[in-house]
Amino acid sequence: MSKEIVVSGIRSTGHLHLGNYFGAIQNYVMMQENYNCYFFVADYHSLTTHPDPKLLRPNVFRVLAENIASGLNPDKVTLYAQSDIPEIPELYLMLNMLAYKGELEKVPTFKDKVRQQPDNVNAGLLTYPVLMTADILIHKAVKVPVGKDQEQHLEMARNFAQRFNTRYGDFFPEPQVFRFNTDAVKIMSLDGNGKMSKSENANNTIYLSDDDDTIRKKIMKAKTDSGPTAPNAEMPGYIQNLFLLMQLTSTHEVYDHYRAAYNGCNIRYGDMKKQLAEDMAAFVRPIREHAAELQKDEESLGKILKAGAEKARASASATIAGARKLIGISYY
Ligand code: ADP
Ligand code: TRP
Repeated sequence: MSKEIVVSGIRSTGHLHLGNYFGAIQNYVMMQENYNCYFFVADYHSLTTHPDPKLLRPNVFRVLAENIASGLNPDKVTLYAQSDIPEIPELYLMLNMLAYKGELEKVPTFKDKVRQQPDNVNAGLLTYPVLMTADILIHKAVKVPVGKDQEQHLEMARNFAQRFNTRYGDFFPEPQVFRFNTDAVKIMSLDGNGKMSKSENANNTIYLSDDDDTIRKKIMKAKTDSGPTAPNAEMPGYIQNLFLLMQLTSTHEVYDHYRAAYNGCNIRYGDMKKQLAEDMAAFVRPIREHAAELQKDEESLGKILKAGAEKARASASATIAGARKLIGISYY
């Protein structure tokens, strides 16, 4: 039986962090054996915020290196840069004719960006979900491993696929969000304000490139309070987040110990954070060291991107040929 097709992308907008790792990359790594995976660096997507051209190349290489260091094997998955696949913008153009201004303006991530960068509300921001749909449909993917924040975009991708099929004939499958554990992991910023993210709030975000001491400092400063006042009290979001991080990186025994302390109202957050900081540092260290090593060898990283682009284009050009034919673009 042929393997199911999987697509996912990460924007090259900065250093990868624990949210990217637990929300996305960990699922990529688990999928690489049993699925036909296309994972890419979404460099076109990063242009919506007008990055310095000098930073694009190091950012793309870092995202690639950090993905490989997290366990992705370039021999098993197709790893490429979005901008190496000209069929993606071609499909994006086709899909833009099926996407309506009203629905795009209602997307919460668009509204957030309008708030964050009121002086740069460009058309690329508005049509971001359309480009993302093109990224996915270009390989006719059925599964898309992404974090919870991307669910709405996936719903739009299904709508656009459906709309294309209704207008031109059945062609695209409807892609679904995929994760191994049923609960979507969402890592919050260490101050409890919003999600960890590449471009904001660096002091409250743990990056895969952070050294041991930086990790210790950030975790020790993470927001806590004076502790629960009644047994089995409900946890505020920032405490839940620390427990989630502990669950993901510490042993079961350690996690259970602090959970019981919380429920019994005798938790000492200082001790908990000290333990978490050590476990987190030990978790990130091998990824950071491997990624740093890989980034020294740009030639090898370039070769990986080139080989990935060739494989991705083979699949993309077959899709575009089919889409053109259905649309009626066939003149000679
Ligand atoms: P960022 O928002 O940090 O710029 P991206 O938008 O490039 O990151 O996201 C890449 C992947 O990482 C997506 O699948 C996204 O859902 C996931 N992701 C990003 N931040 C988090 C987070 N804080 N918790 C869980 N998953 C996340
Ligand atoms: N929009 C995604 C994010 O911000 C990144 C992305 C772009 C993506 N194209 C994609 C994810 C295609 C999955 C599939 O996280």
